[in-house]
Amino acid sequence: MNKLNVKIGNIELKNPLICGSGEQFIELIGIEKALKHGAGAVVIKSTNESTAAKVQLHKTDYTVIDSNFKQLPWDQTPPRDASLFNRSGLHPKPFNEWLELAIRADLMAKKYNSYAIASLIPADLDKLIEHAKIIEASGIRVLEVNVGAPHGDEAVKGAIMLEREASHIKEITQKIRDAVNVPLWIKLTGQSSEIPAMVKAAKDAGADAVTLMGRFMGFIPDIETGEPILGTHAAYGGPWALPLTAHQLVKSRKLIGSDFQMIATNGARDGYDMIRFMMAGASAVQMTSAIFTDGYAVIDKTLRQLEKYLEQKNMNTTDLIGLAADRVKTYAEQDSKVDHWRKFTPE
Ligand SMILES: Cc1cc2nc3c(=O)[nH]c(=O)nc-3n(C[C@H](O)[C@H](O)[C@H](O)COP(=O)(O)O)c2cc1C
Repeated sequence: MNKLNVKIGNIELKNPLICGSGEQFIELIGIEKALKHGAGAVVIKSTNESTAAKVQLHKTDYTVIDSNFKQLPWDQTPPRDASLFNRSGLHPKPFNEWLELAIRADLMAKKYNSYAIASLIPADLDKLIEHAKIIEASGIRVLEVNVGAPHGDEAVKGAIMLEREASHIKEITQKIRDAVNVPLWIKLTGQSSEIPAMVKAAKDAGADAVTLMGRFMGFIPDIETGEPILGTHAAYGGPWALPLTAHQLVKSRKLIGSDFQMIATNGARDGYDMIRFMMAGASAVQMTSAIFTDGYAVIDKTLRQLEKYLEQKNMNTTDLIGLAADRVKTYAEQDSKVDHWRKFTPE
């Protein structure tokens, strides 16, 4: 086995860097670029049957924000601590055209020893099942279903489903699993108080893996104009989200054990972040914003950083999975540092 290989269910990826679904993967050319740069897999821009979800793509807007909540110009590589604030919609093409693209993309990915993954964001559940069956019949090798897109509450009613309850995750996953055998990844929201329970629900209902966790919704006033930046609530993500996602990975691993694969999303910007996510229990890591703002060279850079780290430490990627998660202690298990708090008391 190659040093970088990882397994997600029965699928073997040549490396754990997955390009997460986003605007770069609306067209074949963007997917091809990611494959050429060495991505272990690419998730195609999501689709569903809703016209409103497609129309929403024409109302998207994107801005990069620094730590003073100042908007940064698009034509410059943002600093590492910048956040992305944006609205998004779904793939603009009708399902049949999206499917054609997805088939071509996965055939192309095969040549790169990689995967182009179909992605559905449900609107209506019966329609989702119908689409999942068509995707399976088409020969596409992996399906990700995102039941936690952050825009769900702000989008036109019925355009995008956003599920926050473990019982719903179980029901939806079970319905898909009963209908298709294709490797199934369930992508979960970060906007729920029961994320580990949702992971367990997806596992129990037969998912091959979960992807967690979706970004949060934010609101940023511009203090010069008094206007909301971008005019609306919007999804907000940055490297600050990494510890929040990692926390849920660790809690989920504790609940479900190490024999079920989790894919991290939300917060990775480079190879060291990938290592952090894997040490928290992820078997692979999706990167979206970093490629969106910094370009495809991020893929090469990230893989080089990961490879160099593994070489220096004489490790394989699989050695990283859960390394830190399995060493976590409770507050009660910590050594006592009597009077440690006094260092905050003024003289
Ligand atoms: C512009 C943009 C569009 C996105 N579109 C989708 C999408 O269509 N389907 C999906 O499942 N996730 C979508 N996402 C979410 C990303 O795949 C990813 O989960 C999220 O951005 C957090 O990861 P990151 O910190 O690497 O960006 C989108 C994200 C961005 C920034």
